[in-house]
Amino acid sequence: MKLSADLLHKYVKAGPRYTSYPTAPYFNESFGPAQWEQELRASQDQGRDISLYAHIPFCDTLCYYCGCNMIATKDYSKATSYLEVLFQDIERIAALTNPARQVRQLHWGGGTPTYLKPDDIRRLAAHMTGKFNMAVDAEIGCEMDPRELTRDHVRALRASGFNRLSLGVQDLDHQVQVAVNRVQPEVLIREVYGWIRDEGFASVNFDIMVGLPHQTLSSFERTLDTVIAMAPDRFAVFNYAHVPWMKKHQKLIVEETLPQLDVRLELQKLTLEKLTAAGYVYIGMDHFARPDDELVKAQQLKTLYRNFQGYTTHKNCDILAFGASAISQTDDVYAQNSKVLSDYRSMVEAGQLPVERGLRISHEDKLRREAITSIMCDLELDKAAFGGQWGIDFDQYFGQALEDLKAMQDDGLVLLEADKVRVTEAGRVFLRNIAMAFDSYLAQPASDKPRYSKTV
Ligand SMILES: C[S@@+](CC[C@H](N)C(=O)[O-])C[C@H]1O[C@@H](n2cnc3c(N)ncnc32)[C@H](O)[C@@H]1O
Repeated sequence: MKLSADLLHKYVKAGPRYTSYPTAPYFNESFGPAQWEQELRASQDQGRDISLYAHIPFCDTLCYYCGCNMIATKDYSKATSYLEVLFQDIERIAALTNPARQVRQLHWGGGTPTYLKPDDIRRLAAHMTGKFNMAVDAEIGCEMDPRELTRDHVRALRASGFNRLSLGVQDLDHQVQVAVNRVQPEVLIREVYGWIRDEGFASVNFDIMVGLPHQTLSSFERTLDTVIAMAPDRFAVFNYAHVPWMKKHQKLIVEETLPQLDVRLELQKLTLEKLTAAGYVYIGMDHFARPDDELVKAQQLKTLYRNFQGYTTHKNCDILAFGASAISQTDDVYAQNSKVLSDYRSMVEAGQLPVERGLRISHEDKLRREAITSIMCDLELDKAAFGGQWGIDFDQYFGQALEDLKAMQDDGLVLLEADKVRVTEAGRVFLRNIAMAFDSYLAQPASDKPRYSKTV
């Protein structure tokens, strides 16, 4: 795929990542514990499968680029007491869940879940899997930081049933690593990767970041060549979202050292070219996978879905999420737990569901969510099938969206056919921009709008 810098320049603007629709900034505080409990009680008989998520917010040190909900601390007692609260949170939700419903997916994110000591990894995994009805072939995954990791952590994960791991590699260049306060030499990554494969993990993802301070084409080419040679099954390539107005610690990154837009775009082109030349299939946005990977198969079968964990192979799962800041989802509702650890703790200890805000979504939201999901996951929208499913005349209902997409068609990003809207190969890089045409919240007055990161 040839990607022109002109196109990247033209379409680089602020926009949502569409891990939900409506996006999280539109959740509100009139949705709280009572509403979430009511929804949980009402949504048990639908027979929908479940995806479980646990958020472990702790990290040993602060990575200056970090955009996640995390706390850097060396005080492990914080994790021990968090686990006790997390256990209560899990128990309370499990008690409200129909035991016949199957868990297809379980994921630990952070922060850094492998901040937990191996014994605590075992305890938490046993607690979660013991309280729910796990499918025998459930995908069980965990994010990990190669630093401070031991072989025992990897063994504990494997013994606890984990079958997918995601390793935060980011960039292998020393100067870049120093600038973001995350020094992890290549030998360390190789050693950890060796343990993971030796312990029998068949699915490994590497997180890589584009747009970090001091990244140059030649330094990043070396990183890419090295990680490609290691042959993980998937790559998540994130564009560094620099949002210092939201994440104050990102001010520790000297802005003058960030690659200029032109370099950033060249870095993106290089990544795309190198990964596809190495045989990885570009799923879209930030995800690449080997041709035989479940993500690629799911995209072909149109069962790929996008949620708070990024792309996932399981459509139509409700997400039950535990821990501070974690977001749950049913077909009708989003519910986010309190982000502040002390608030999360006091709500759980008071016997409440620790939900701080959320949203019951409208019929129109659902319809638009489905359209955005089709664009992001299937890379096309079948107008007749969609219109039939939702009882609308597609061309009429989405008249404005189709009008907005004409300019993108002229740029070769979409094909507006009589029966389909189709994303082209080049359009995969601009999925956020294409999806934005179907988002009715973006038309709000500028002062109410959330400030998103850049789309490309
Ligand atoms: C929640 S983090 C967990 C990874 C784990 N803590 C580690 O240290 O590797 C998941 C990934 O988000 C990405 N990430 C974090 N901050 C980001 C930002 N500001 N912009 C883009 N991607 C970011 C990184 O690639 C990171 O590996």
